[in-house]
Amino acid sequence: MFAVQYHRYGGSEVLAREEVEEPHAGPGQVRIAVRAAGVTPSDWYLRSGMFRDIVSLALPHIPGMDAAGIVDEVGEGVTGTAVGDAVFGILPAADHGGATAEYAVLEAWAPKPRSWSFEEAGGAAGNIDTATRALEALAAAEGMTLLIEGAAGGVGTITAQLARARGLTVIGTASEGNHDFLRGLGVIPVTYGPGLADRVAALAPRGVDVVLDAAGKGSLAELVAIAGDPRRVVTIADFDADRHGVRFSRSEAGESPGWAGLPLAADLADQGRLTVPLHAVFPLAETAAAHDVSAGGHARGKIVITVP
Ligand SMILES: NC(=O)c1ccc[n+]([C@@H]2O[C@H](COP(=O)([O-])OP(=O)(O)OC[C@H]3O[C@@H](n4cnc5c(N)ncnc54)[C@H](OP(=O)(O)O)[C@@H]3O)[C@@H](O)[C@H]2O)c1
Repeated sequence: MFAVQYHRYGGSEVLAREEVEEPHAGPGQVRIAVRAAGVTPSDWYLRSGMFRDIVSLALPHIPGMDAAGIVDEVGEGVTGTAVGDAVFGILPAADHGGATAEYAVLEAWAPKPRSWSFEEAGGAAGNIDTATRALEALAAAEGMTLLIEGAAGGVGTITAQLARARGLTVIGTASEGNHDFLRGLGVIPVTYGPGLADRVAALAPRGVDVVLDAAGKGSLAELVAIAGDPRRVVTIADFDADRHGVRFSRSEAGESPGWAGLPLAADLADQGRLTVPLHAVFPLAETAAAHDVSAGGHARGKIVITVP
């Protein structure tokens, strides 16, 4: 099959389209003919080599952790999914990639909502998993107010909508150019940066109940002060979490508490209550450009690659 992969760590110029061996669905997995794959900051963090001491990749490595497509192999023990089904889902976490390819294996998936294009579905699963995990870790429940740091990005936009569907009020930080965009998602926008606590206090005089840091830009001390207790804060992106007594939520190999969010999100999508805002869509041949846009740090929603 064809895939975009890299043989050595480096800038986006190390990515190349090559012929590689096909993966096959193992027990409990399905294989899809990929129609679209999501781009996440981890794809270029890993490619750059900055995590080489923590995550050992078997090079060459195919990036991309989530995808949508048509099932063409069903692994042993899988029920309820058949060859020809359109699905969206997550690649095995232990592989750290594999989606920018003609075929990919999924370890968690749900039927593609009819209301989503393959591009929207291709960029959805990883963020739904992350958002669901984070909302569970925060025990986010109806009536609460949630503050999301970095609400306009891939994770932020999905978390905000899933929280709204659970009946929470959501305040989200973004640069001013993204405030109308956030309002369109039912989020009360606020500008990030120094003085955030005062601005949030003006918007939520009774305070916020829980906080998700989806940006990892060094604001945990202020976010803890806003929440009033580090146990009400979860970060997915700040490696200083321990120092602040804050829980860091990450995807682990094996079943994630976020997987249950996939079919629920698909139902919400078909009710018109969950969209996947797309910042940009690139063809597979322009995977390097997709990584570079992600590395710019200002995606409004999700960056997606179409295959072939
Ligand atoms: N632990 C996990 O399981 C997990 C899973 C997925 C992602 N992550 C991590 O979570 C982070 C976000 O991922 P993503 O996919 O949502 O990224 P993304 O789509 O690239 O989001 C970027 C967003 O960050 C906002 N931003 C930039 N500077 C900011 C600042 N100083 N304060 C607050 N927000 C700021 C931008 O908003 P403006 O354009 O308005 O500035 C933009 O909307 C990344 O570090 C990623 O690696 C972790």
